[in-house]
Amino acid sequence: MSLTINDLNIIEYLTKWYISLPLLLVVYKLFDVFYEIYLRNKLGAKRETNIESDGYFGFKMPFIMIKKKDDGVLPDFSVERYENLLNPNIATYSFKIFTTKLFATKDPENIKAILATQFNDFSLGLRHAQFAPLLGNGIFTLDKEGWKDSRQMLRPQFAREQISHVKMLEPHIQILFKHIRKNLGNTFDLQELFFRLTVDSASEFLFGESVESLKDESIGFHIEDFAGKKEFAKSFNSAQDSMSVRSKLQKLYWLYNPKHFQQCIKVVHTFAQHYVQKALSLTPEELDKQEGYVFLYELAKQTRDPKVLQDQLLNILVAGRDTTAGLLSFVFFELARNPEIFKKLKEELYSKFGFGKDARVEEITFESLKNCEYLKAVLNETLRLYPSVPQNFRLAIKDTTLPHGGGKDGLSPVLIRKNTTVTYSVYATHRSEEFYGKDSTIFRPERWFEPETRKLGWAFLPFNGGPRICLGQQFALTEASYVTTRLIQEFSNLSMNPNTKYPPKKSSHLTMSLFDGLNIEMS
Ligand code: HEM
Ligand SMILES: *[C@@H]1O[C@H](CO)[C@@H](O)[C@H](O)[C@H]1NC(C)=O
Ligand SMILES: *[C@@H]1O[C@H](CO)[C@@H](O)[C@H](O)[C@H]1NC(C)=O
Ligand SMILES: *[C@@H]1O[C@H](CO)[C@@H](O)[C@H](O)[C@H]1NC(C)=O
Repeated sequence: MSLTINDLNIIEYLTKWYISLPLLLVVYKLFDVFYEIYLRNKLGAKRETNIESDGYFGFKMPFIMIKKKDDGVLPDFSVERYENLLNPNIATYSFKIFTTKLFATKDPENIKAILATQFNDFSLGLRHAQFAPLLGNGIFTLDKEGWKDSRQMLRPQFAREQISHVKMLEPHIQILFKHIRKNLGNTFDLQELFFRLTVDSASEFLFGESVESLKDESIGFHIEDFAGKKEFAKSFNSAQDSMSVRSKLQKLYWLYNPKHFQQCIKVVHTFAQHYVQKALSLTPEELDKQEGYVFLYELAKQTRDPKVLQDQLLNILVAGRDTTAGLLSFVFFELARNPEIFKKLKEELYSKFGFGKDARVEEITFESLKNCEYLKAVLNETLRLYPSVPQNFRLAIKDTTLPHGGGKDGLSPVLIRKNTTVTYSVYATHRSEEFYGKDSTIFRPERWFEPETRKLGWAFLPFNGGPRICLGQQFALTEASYVTTRLIQEFSNLSMNPNTKYPPKKSSHLTMSLFDGLNIEMS
């Protein structure tokens, strides 16, 4: 065999590339390493001590996480990861996903920097792209000016609404009671009912009409479907599940856009548009004369843009519905396993508001609920062990630093380069012995009466902090307090199969809930 001139050219050409391409990469990598050192010096940061490795350049970690999620232990895994670091006392580390470097932190000082003191160094990253098909442009999806405008427009609604709201809950509670009475003496899933309760009350509060998902044949109702009311709750749930998949895919979110996601979005949008049109058909004078409080009608006094109204309402529904249902579920989960705590709470509520046939429902108000100290401690303790948003993240939009994590002791700043994602786990912070002592994983509402717990600052953060702090915090606590009070007034016995697994498995979609539901008995 002999080689022609031509063949030799090709070989020469190929060898050139085989040599020069890796060379180029090495040069680029070297430049990058030096640039990082330069940045570190310029910004006064030190190298991070904790570097987590899966041994496969981050190709294994996504699969580990999928497995943990399917097993219902993803939030708990976020705690474990800190325990296996080179220095477990440093609450910040870097890790890799498919070769891309990220940071994780549970250090309150770093979380405070991300959310408050260095707010302008970070953004929501891809959230808008991932959620926009359902949520469009709203407070929950936007950054910068769009977010500022949304927040300014929505904030007044939350100040005014808080007080009158609880009365609107009562009709829904009565339907919930019917379901529980139907199951008297039997085990049933209360969490599933909480999810229906919160979509019923939220839809009424937001759109002016409830989707009434609790009213079904099993308790003797037959509801005619109109404007996709029945379909709405189902489609909304399913669309949220799809969005959660999209958000877990990070940059590859666009790969997941199945037909049923698009169909669900259509149902949700059609429903929202029906009510937006109804509101816009009213003159400003008619809007003023509407009875009761409807978020949509109040907002329609500020803008008559149908898309803005639709997007903001759906943004609030996503932010407020599952979070509240999750909180209620974990409250009753812990009450059912802790008879002493349940008894103490019962005593407080019964002495203030009566119970059974003698329940003084009209006395349960925003103000009187604020005076229920033990109830508040139970809610705080539940949000501590089960924060509705256990993990969250932000994207650095410029080269910056976080105050802790650098150097041997972790007390020096650490470099966060532009485009780096920083995940933060309040679930892990809330379970740190450093802030909550040796019994940090025990459900103990009494800790909220101890002086140490009252000085936590950023180590207790169920509602986020800084400029993007949850707008619905008071609203959610009032609703959860009211529902808890009414249920306990009506049903004085609560029990759960003693073999129920503890700690419970958790689903982590957009928000956290009980993986296996809340299977309890009430009477
Ligand atoms: C237990 C109940 C709730 C919890 C634990 C909770 C928690 C949170 C958290 C952690 C965030 C920050 C998300 C982020 O910035 O990435 C947030 C934002 C928000 N929440 Fe809540 N939330 C609850 C209920 C509600 C309710 C009932 C509403 C409304 C009715 C609501 C409205 C909002 C809004 C509008 C935002 C976006 C604020 C902004 O970005 O400026 N939340 N919430
Ligand atoms: C619950 O936590 C909040 C926020 O940290 C705190 O202001 C409040 O005093 C706590 N409530 C109780 C009853 O401890
Ligand atoms: C950051 O990411 C964006 C989009 O992926 C890209 O266009 C940009 O070049 C990146 N910037 C840096 C500094 O890596
Ligand atoms: C609650 O349980 C106690 C003891 O098991 C029982 O005597 C009582 O009748 C129950 N109360 C209701 C309302 O079912």
